[in-house]
Amino acid sequence: MTNPNYSKQQIEKILAEERFAYHRVNLPYGLHTRGRDRRRTRDLIFPQSLAGKSVLDVGSALGYFCFEAETRGATRVLGIERDVERFRQACLLKQIIGSRVEFLQRDILQHSLDEKFDYVCLLNVLHHLDDPIHAIHLLAPLAREVLIIEFPTIEDAKFCKTTRIRFPKHYNRLPLMGVSSRKATSKKTDGGQTFVFTPPALIRILQDHQPLFREVEIIDSPVRGRKIALCRK
Ligand SMILES: C[S@@+](CC[C@H](N)C(=O)[O-])C[C@H]1O[C@@H](n2cnc3c(N)ncnc32)[C@H](O)[C@@H]1O
Repeated sequence: MTNPNYSKQQIEKILAEERFAYHRVNLPYGLHTRGRDRRRTRDLIFPQSLAGKSVLDVGSALGYFCFEAETRGATRVLGIERDVERFRQACLLKQIIGSRVEFLQRDILQHSLDEKFDYVCLLNVLHHLDDPIHAIHLLAPLAREVLIIEFPTIEDAKFCKTTRIRFPKHYNRLPLMGVSSRKATSKKTDGGQTFVFTPPALIRILQDHQPLFREVEIIDSPVRGRKIALCRK
């Protein structure tokens, strides 16, 4: 991967100046941003080929999943990010990569979209929202094939820290919602949490309260205490 508009030295200078802390994003000349390696999640949620598909990533942060969807052949990729700084950095990375991904800086709860996508991703965002169920109801109709939700359960480390209780594992088999805390539990955390869900609770919201999806498959997330719901139309 090379981009004639940026030399290796120019990209190294940008990497030294910017604090790209969130995602490890692949850049030209074998370079990458510092940040968490999300390849395992990518391989769980995306097929090898996304040729011709459209992908919406809500809460796209630095855009890792958008760029990877494009690499796998998606022809229309949109990342929505509320945070101004993360949005700015995603746009800078887009230029460096020479990507055609579109990024919008907006709050998904304030401005809905009138476009449908084959894949809609909502990864590790639900527990930051004041109204997560409203967000699911907004996003479900936008997904043509699948809505992918990565979410913390009551086994999530941060949730356990705020409750000071380690819930027995089998509680995750009950349809429960946990009310988490907005207070950060360490200097590193980004604004705390709102709600966590057990898998059966989320399934009830997705299929019982309203028949939003034909099938919901819950798989383990590579992040401990989290799950991934693959919600198929
Ligand atoms: C924990 S990060 C997850 C980032 C990425 N989806 C991932 O899994 O690697 C949550 C992201 O969602 C963004 N976010 C939170 N609420 C949002 C909203 N209402 N609309 C758009 N983005 C939002 C945050 O700014 C943050 O970048």
